[in-house]
Amino acid sequence: MRESTVGAGAKEMSVVSVAAELGGERRLALSGGAERSRESTILKIAEEIRERKQRGEQVLDLTIGDFRPDQFPVPATYCERIREALREGHTNYPPVAGLPEMREAVRDHVRKDLGLEYPTDGVLIGGGARPLIYSSFMAFVDPGDLVLYPVPSWNSHHYVNLSGARGLALPVTAAKNFHLDHTDLAPHLAEARLLCLNSPLNPTGTCISREALTGICRAIVTENERRSSAGERPLFLIYDQVYNLLTFGKAEHFTPVHLVPEVAPYAILIDAVSKGFCGTGLRVGWGIGPPPIIKKMASMAGHYGAWCPRPQQVGTARFLRDRAAIAEHRKSMVERLEARLGLLDRGLGSMRMAGMPVEHIEPQGAIYLSVRFALHGRNVKGRLIETNEDIRALLLEEAGFAVVPFDAFGHEGEPGWMRLSVGAAAVEEIEAGLDRVRAVLEPAG
Ligand SMILES: Cc1ncc(COP(=O)(O)O)c(C=O)c1O
Repeated sequence: MRESTVGAGAKEMSVVSVAAELGGERRLALSGGAERSRESTILKIAEEIRERKQRGEQVLDLTIGDFRPDQFPVPATYCERIREALREGHTNYPPVAGLPEMREAVRDHVRKDLGLEYPTDGVLIGGGARPLIYSSFMAFVDPGDLVLYPVPSWNSHHYVNLSGARGLALPVTAAKNFHLDHTDLAPHLAEARLLCLNSPLNPTGTCISREALTGICRAIVTENERRSSAGERPLFLIYDQVYNLLTFGKAEHFTPVHLVPEVAPYAILIDAVSKGFCGTGLRVGWGIGPPPIIKKMASMAGHYGAWCPRPQQVGTARFLRDRAAIAEHRKSMVERLEARLGLLDRGLGSMRMAGMPVEHIEPQGAIYLSVRFALHGRNVKGRLIETNEDIRALLLEEAGFAVVPFDAFGHEGEPGWMRLSVGAAAVEEIEAGLDRVRAVLEPAG
């Protein structure tokens, strides 16, 4: 193969060597956004797990926020609708805001499922939830604007970095079910431009309560009334509800607009097929909000091409109209999740009853469970445990039990909390993993 070269004349350099140097001393300064961007900690942990598995070690992987298709498949009828769309030749550019039939199908879906009344032009279709979150940031914040978000939480800081905003991470605690309420926001609201919330929450699996969400929405409305009379720019809300179909037991999912309709002019609701329909790789998402904002978001997203592929839109629109298939999928998916989360719930509960230093929050929503291993300052298996990373390494290396510390989600408070994610785990693997953890922790009890 011939190597391409750059630069004419005396000293030609190969493209390969130039590219290699860019990673070394001659590294060129890039934009602020590029320099601030960080690889996800979870991806690094995933790499370590992959290596261990390759060496033949038994590892229960509770780290990834994705699904193993053999455990959590996309509904077969949904796949068939997409194949059908391809067969019919739906392969050209879709309109930037989404195909009309897809926007209408989403409008009807949120009406039936969440009781929300939005017009079709209040629906924007995108390539999964992420580009819609990014477009919301682009629509709301300028560099330097203040963005509030709870920690632990999923990825808000990355969007803050990309947009050049100023992020203020507000710590949440187990005592408040890992969610904010209006008292946490009060000192910062007057200065903030955007608040990012997510429920059911990644990484904790907890659902925000009716009271907490109502209080926050009322505070946003009051703050915006003040700003409107003072001629100031409003405070906006991104409400990420990608796990809204996945709630368990007595837990309920609430939407801001349902609880406080007056918040609607300031709120964008984000959802996708990624979690509720196991379709993380299909890249189908939607944002719902005031039509003038949706229009601006669409016009920006058109330039970075963040639309959802046309065959997926045609297929999803047809699938979303099949209420029986949706109900059947939801039932079976919640059962599968409950089986796995329930095992962890009972297993960790029995360890606690036996005096081991473990506490957890019973499953409420999403595909996650929060557990705390209070091992700091203890000696376990000849290791002095001082940090969350020590706990993670202990569980992985001694018990083949792979978890993600809340640190990966910006949490700095109360030590020892970890996220357990069950999307890639089979029931029997969880049983075996719990036995291995018990064997490691028993002497620490
Ligand atoms: C809360 C939350 N929002 C959004 C996403 C990303 O969704 P998508 O894959 O549709 O971009 C995730 C993925 O883990 C998530 O946990």
